[in-house]
Amino acid sequence: MAEMKVTPWEVEGPVDYDRLIEVFGVKPLTEDLIRLTGKYAGEVHLLLRRKVFYAHRDYDVFLKRYGDKEPVALYTGRGPSSKVHLGHLVPWIFTRWLQERLGLELYFQLTDDEKFLYHRDYTLEYTNSMAYENLLDLIALGFDPKKTFVIVDSEDIAYLYNIALRVAKKITASIVKAVFGFTDSTNIGMYFFPSLQIAMCFLPSTIRNEKVLVLIPAAIDQDPYWRVARDIASSLGYPKPAQIHSKFLPGLGPGGKMSSSRPETAIYTTDSPEAVYRKIMNAFTGGQPTAELQRKLGGNPDKCPVFTYYSMLFEPSEEKLSERYRRCKAGEILCGECKRELAERVAKFIEGHQKRRERARDRIEDFLIRTKVSIRK
Ligand code: TRP
Repeated sequence: MAEMKVTPWEVEGPVDYDRLIEVFGVKPLTEDLIRLTGKYAGEVHLLLRRKVFYAHRDYDVFLKRYGDKEPVALYTGRGPSSKVHLGHLVPWIFTRWLQERLGLELYFQLTDDEKFLYHRDYTLEYTNSMAYENLLDLIALGFDPKKTFVIVDSEDIAYLYNIALRVAKKITASIVKAVFGFTDSTNIGMYFFPSLQIAMCFLPSTIRNEKVLVLIPAAIDQDPYWRVARDIASSLGYPKPAQIHSKFLPGLGPGGKMSSSRPETAIYTTDSPEAVYRKIMNAFTGGQPTAELQRKLGGNPDKCPVFTYYSMLFEPSEEKLSERYRRCKAGEILCGECKRELAERVAKFIEGHQKRRERARDRIEDFLIRTKVSIRK
């Protein structure tokens, strides 16, 4: 079996999430923290309840600050290398919920520069156009334009540059080599880039001219940036950014996260209903090779991406989810039926999302930082 590899640019093999907690030195999310979130938010989001968001750094500190009415904000982002698929939506759905429930500002970074630098064949025109395409998906999820500030790196660099300079001066080449695995053949753009993703952690403090602690809801592969950010924050006079880390939505094939490098195993927000059905009906499952064996031996929902889609996104009811789990294991439900039901739900979701996504086209300006905040040094 392929070895696990989790970096900000590559995720491979079956991911051992408990091991990542140790390797990255983060903390598991506790029931107490989930309960406290529920107290402030008035409900507990499914992604917390089901531990899709499962690890953190200083999430307790963030909640305490929030409870004490000290300044806090949200920060997350997207590297626009491709169209958006369902996996990308997971942290955004949760972030939107936090924004609404806790009434927080969100700072959102589109790193068209990063994706241009990283991918040999991508032009800056391509990654920049993807940034705006991806922004439509973000807007479609229902973020509040009054509280959302989107930065497109290649165009809005003046908001970040002075902070990034101060950040960059604290980071040596040997640090980024060790943390990100850069080598002597990595281009020098990549060596500077982490200072931009890190600078965003401190932008809310600069804009609001007070010490704003940011909480970063994101998939766990981004953790290396936050390690470096936290190391240098105090020396620059900023609070250490806090993180809440999610697992990945699996692809529809056997093992690994949903990835644009395997398009038949990823469901894009722009897919047609036919494509959604085709991809899901062809999905790998935890089922037996034949219906007869399935009835006799039952399936394995713990190893099944189809079941994971229900648990991460498409089955809100706890009772119905555990009933599906039980029936799968008992061989009472066959994979075909389970996949067809999922395809229906996904297609319905995508249809609504596509309508909201089209309506977002005339609302882009309302979300861009440059249309509402003046640059501060
Ligand atoms: N590097 C991220 C990516 O490749 C993009 C990004 C920038 C990001 N800032 C972020 C992701 C903050 C999560 C949180 O997708």
